[in-house]
Amino acid sequence: PTIYAITPTYSRPVQKAELTRLANTFRQVAQLHWILVEDAAARSELVSRFLARAGLPSTHLHVPTPRRYKRPGLPRATEQRNAGLAWLRQRHGNQRAQPGVLFFADDDNTYSLELFQEMRTTRKVSVWPVGLVGGRRYERPLVENGKVVGWYTGWRADRPFAIDMAGFAVSLQVILSNPKAVFKRRGSQPGMQESDFLKQITTVEELEPKASNCTKVLVWHTRTEKVNLANEPKYRLDTVRIEV
Ligand code: UGA
Ligand code: MN
Repeated sequence: PTIYAITPTYSRPVQKAELTRLANTFRQVAQLHWILVEDAAARSELVSRFLARAGLPSTHLHVPTPRRYKRPGLPRATEQRNAGLAWLRQRHGNQRAQPGVLFFADDDNTYSLELFQEMRTTRKVSVWPVGLVGGRRYERPLVENGKVVGWYTGWRADRPFAIDMAGFAVSLQVILSNPKAVFKRRGSQPGMQESDFLKQITTVEELEPKASNCTKVLVWHTRTEKVNLANEPKYRLDTVRIEV
């Protein structure tokens, strides 16, 4: 099956560095199609140029987050992930689903190559541990006799699926047979996006544990430090045009 990675991304000084790390990983994965969705009113030149040289099958989408939703404490990238889902459904809508697996790959996380081997065998919805998240070294699904029976987490254990966006994959078939499943703004509290989405397409009992019954961390919720530009000149001092 093809792995479809949906990556929301937005303009900031570290953007190209993040995308470079991601592309360097994805390039090593067979049959991966990268769906990069810019949080912007138009496709940027930076991302267009980057993708053209990335050496990966890709689709370049864009949708701006409405200004009222750009506030601390509100979920990020809702519209961008939905644009990726809409593209997948449109592209595969009129045919019987070709084998495919979808996962949501934020641009700042760190992904091991093993992770892709694990998710490629997803039948409906698969799950695995995520490192450096929820105020702990890792969060993970608790597994008994091959089934998910609960969650090891230090944060909001009341979540129906106490899992980060980086902790699950969904088969294309499930995406197509649940055409209305999307990320919602209304009523979605911070940290509940994953649960609100997964609730629409699966149940805890149905989840397929990966990474040796969820005992291996193969993806990390790394976050990039805000860059220090204190010494950036007010006016352009450099004499040639630099691509950053
Ligand atoms: C956590 C989760 O890991 C995310 O999956 C979730 O979307 C997010 O919380 C949330 O608050 O909604 P965190 O590291 O705090 O992640 O969020 P970011 O990595 O800053 O953003 C998640 C993704 O959205 C990234 O790919 C980022 O590039 C993108 N993003 C962020 C935008 O497209 N627009 C923005 O204004 C901010
Ligand atoms: Mn992040």
